[in-house]
Amino acid sequence: MENIILDCDPGIDDAIAIILALKSKNCKIKAITTVTGNTYSEVGTRNVIKLFYLLGIDWFAIERPPIAEGSKLPLSGRMNFAGSKQVHGLDGFGNTEDLFDEYKIPKKIQTEYDAMDLIDSTVSESEEPITLVTLGPLTNIARVIEKDPSIIRKLKKVIIMGGAIEVPGNVSPGAEFNIYTDPEAARTIFLSGLPILLVPLDVTKRYTLTKNDISEIIDVDSPVTNFINKALSYYMRITRIREGFEEDACFLHDALAMGIAIDERLRKTIKTKRYFVDVETKGLLSSGQTIADRRRVPEFKEYGATDICLDIDFPKFVKFLTRIILD
Ligand code: RIB
Ligand code: CA
Repeated sequence: MENIILDCDPGIDDAIAIILALKSKNCKIKAITTVTGNTYSEVGTRNVIKLFYLLGIDWFAIERPPIAEGSKLPLSGRMNFAGSKQVHGLDGFGNTEDLFDEYKIPKKIQTEYDAMDLIDSTVSESEEPITLVTLGPLTNIARVIEKDPSIIRKLKKVIIMGGAIEVPGNVSPGAEFNIYTDPEAARTIFLSGLPILLVPLDVTKRYTLTKNDISEIIDVDSPVTNFINKALSYYMRITRIREGFEEDACFLHDALAMGIAIDERLRKTIKTKRYFVDVETKGLLSSGQTIADRRRVPEFKEYGATDICLDIDFPKFVKFLTRIILD
């Protein structure tokens, strides 16, 4: 059983990752926190709650995972959505607002915790080891480390979707969106000594998901599969246009990272390399770039040695995705 804290900026691919985590019998979600990235954190929080309704999780049940709205802005205080409004739609969920009318979810939801306190207390009070999975900018995590550095040695693993090591970026020639949005926060994380497994664009853009891959899922008529169908249709169409693909297809960045976090068989298929990783925070053209020192004799850094996932058995991931969602 994997004990997971999930920090996210939902986002369509975040939504698939969150559904996988909430439906999987292999993991227990100990807390969900949101951060401004694809959407503002308050929109992301409401989007998380939408998924609880879709999955029939009683919002007032004691055992449901606590949710906390996190940082509204990056550490710099400046936000650049860098096209994510187009990629994920104005609601962050591929313009699927109409699917939630019946649930009458309030526009503004006051969550019961401060996100940084929730992450820190959940890790500190847990008897079982916890894996932190980050699917958005790293603002919240940097603020937790600043508040309580002891968390660094308490976390079992930190699985980060982000960065681009040997491939181009997706918001600039060298930078990936989650790192680009808050490079100062990311640098704090990479140099902190946290046990990081990085899931960068090198693996998440290596494979695309097509309608054919999810045909078994979209053939089912249910609230959650209808949402997945509509949200992924939007995401695949936008990605086809932006990437110049022949057919609708998308990259399930966050769902891949979550699959690695919660499924041991899938995790056993990944190919990794270990590099010292630093983050450019000042460059006019290169801010947000994850710089891995790939020289034969790297420049030693006290911390920053990071395991980097560069490949995965994607057909096995698609089978895992289908199995969990249809379970
Ligand atoms: O670059 C891809 C990442 O940025 C994903 O996490 C996506 O949801 C966006 O947050
Ligand atoms: Ca995300």
